[in-house]
Amino acid sequence: MANFKRYLVTAALPYANGPVHIGHLAGVYVPADIYVRYKRLRGEDVKFICGSDEHGVPITLKARQEKVSPQVIVDRFHAINKKAFSDFGISFDIYSRTSNKIHHETASGFFKTLYDKNIFIEKTAEQYYDEEAKQFLADRYITGTCPHCGNENAYGDQCEKCGTSLSSSELINPKSTISGNQPVLKETKHWYLPLDKYEDFLQKWILEDHKNWKTNVYGQCKSWLDQGLKPRAVSRDLDWGVKVPVENADGKVLYVWFDAPIGYISATKELTSNWEKYWKDKETKLVHFIGKDNIVFHCIIFPTMLKTEGSYILPDNVPANEFLNLEGDKISTSRNWAVWLHEYLEDFEGKQDVLRYVLTSNAPETKDNDFTWKDFQNRNNNELVAILGNFINRTLVLTNKYFDGIVPEIADLLLQDEETINEIAEIKKKVEFSLENYRIRESLKEGMNLARLGNKYLADTEPWKIIKQDENRVKTILNICLQITANLAQILEPFLPFTTNKICTLLNYNKLGWETIGSVDLLKTGHKIGSPELLFSKIEDAEVEKQIEKLQKAKIQNNTNNNIQPAKPNISFDDFTKLDIRTGTILEAEKVPKTKKLIKLKIDTGIDNRTVVSGIAEFFEADKIIGKKVSILINLEPRKIRGIESQGMILMAENSEGVLQFVSAENDIENGSLIK
Ligand code: MF3
Ligand code: ZN
Repeated sequence: MANFKRYLVTAALPYANGPVHIGHLAGVYVPADIYVRYKRLRGEDVKFICGSDEHGVPITLKARQEKVSPQVIVDRFHAINKKAFSDFGISFDIYSRTSNKIHHETASGFFKTLYDKNIFIEKTAEQYYDEEAKQFLADRYITGTCPHCGNENAYGDQCEKCGTSLSSSELINPKSTISGNQPVLKETKHWYLPLDKYEDFLQKWILEDHKNWKTNVYGQCKSWLDQGLKPRAVSRDLDWGVKVPVENADGKVLYVWFDAPIGYISATKELTSNWEKYWKDKETKLVHFIGKDNIVFHCIIFPTMLKTEGSYILPDNVPANEFLNLEGDKISTSRNWAVWLHEYLEDFEGKQDVLRYVLTSNAPETKDNDFTWKDFQNRNNNELVAILGNFINRTLVLTNKYFDGIVPEIADLLLQDEETINEIAEIKKKVEFSLENYRIRESLKEGMNLARLGNKYLADTEPWKIIKQDENRVKTILNICLQITANLAQILEPFLPFTTNKICTLLNYNKLGWETIGSVDLLKTGHKIGSPELLFSKIEDAEVEKQIEKLQKAKIQNNTNNNIQPAKPNISFDDFTKLDIRTGTILEAEKVPKTKKLIKLKIDTGIDNRTVVSGIAEFFEADKIIGKKVSILINLEPRKIRGIESQGMILMAENSEGVLQFVSAENDIENGSLIK
């Protein structure tokens, strides 16, 4: 393994078109922060770089929606996100932004270098153009049907349903998102990075030299390379972005994915005049933390840019995570299906570490994972409160009770003590191994094993039972428990920085650094600790139920906005009176064999008992609806359905998700549901 003198760690620059949510934290920023804090504790020279990605179509689209300039949008979300990260202890050395002057200069200089080296292919090609808006339709300005999965709302650069990266010419039935019109093709000139020319280099650099990358990352790269690379346009016809710095390039800017990763470089420049040491010296280890949708850009395109430029190092690793879902559903900003960081803090003030802990324990490292509020509550109550908080609290309470808060001296060490002490160093090694290999979830689990060890030691030694007979033995036990507590304050710092600071305050102790972990001389005999205070508190059912309700509301609101059936044309009063609708009661109900949807009902209509076949079996079990009151249209012409004559129709409300409910005042039916 190569020896590195310094670390340059980047976290994907989030688009400044919306607030960050738990998916962002879990996938990128918390793991990156843990890694960086760990390296810093080891005394390494680390720079941790991030900032807002302020160009690109997602931003101009948002600005168009709100009828403001893109600058207004990026100013707003840059501030919100910068604060959210800092509130959660994400310890960037700089949180910059790509609308800065230094970034425009750096990105345009980078392009110019490649241009002067004749790296690009200049090509005129036909591209979709909106004649009404008088604008070329880059990326997300165009939607259409995905040729791979049939999703009708695929974007010009990507289908979010199947994840395929697309070019707008592949879309079936393309539509402009500005005017809704069908676009026309028109010629325009662009610069292309000929990735195909660097296939050999990439093959070797990734597939041979970086077999140690995470399998999801390696696999995606391999599949791109196996399919063969094509030249990629690195410019766009847009008026928001970094201007293409060559002649005859009016109205053209750098493609956002060309300029954004250069943002890592400009931010480093802004941070330190020594920036070249971090970017150009082979003894720097460059690590990009990203989400899986960013893999191709960080593993193939950006490295090709760096390589062709010639003076830069390439990433040593690109630990990309998969996605975090929320309560079983894909997180979505536009559907408001998310837990926003600033809202979390309103409801769980001071509980940043709880979220950091849950997101790390359940991090989507190898596959997509699900965040649920129930799991959040369980991990808080059963792990943070019951294991970590409990151990430390018992240690502090007993020390105060028996020894007035003074660290007692060690008498004789028994085998049991020695084994416990040796275990601390073992745990340290395991945490290190996991962190060095970007297995952050595993490393937290190992770290928590130190608290488990403490609890087990206390349970085995039971100092409260022997304090009367053998005070010396209790002194030794509590000394060791206090040393474990001080060790916890250090080993858990990367994961739970707010909590470990609190532990230090309670111990009246200053951290000494990573290398001292394993020592049982962190707190000297005679040192006075502070009085105990609880580190974590139980989260009650009502608190998580409130969160689930909040999500449910967001879902309903969304559906109300998006999916409610449009109104039908007016009818005359006479038409209405033709309908004979009665109230009735379900007397019998049985599923129609070999059908998915049908239930055969016998209904008392007040006039007669009649048979109705109804398509409700997906929503109700036959034997559960017997006795229910229904509204029934009795003069609908009888029809044979699966050989059964249906003599009417019961009225059901269908909500925006296609779920049927009986029409009755007790049911909380969504407004706008169609009665049918
Ligand atoms: N803004 C992009 C996203 O949210 C990430 C950009 S990462 C960078 O997906 F490398 F380009 F900076
Ligand atoms: Zn698709």
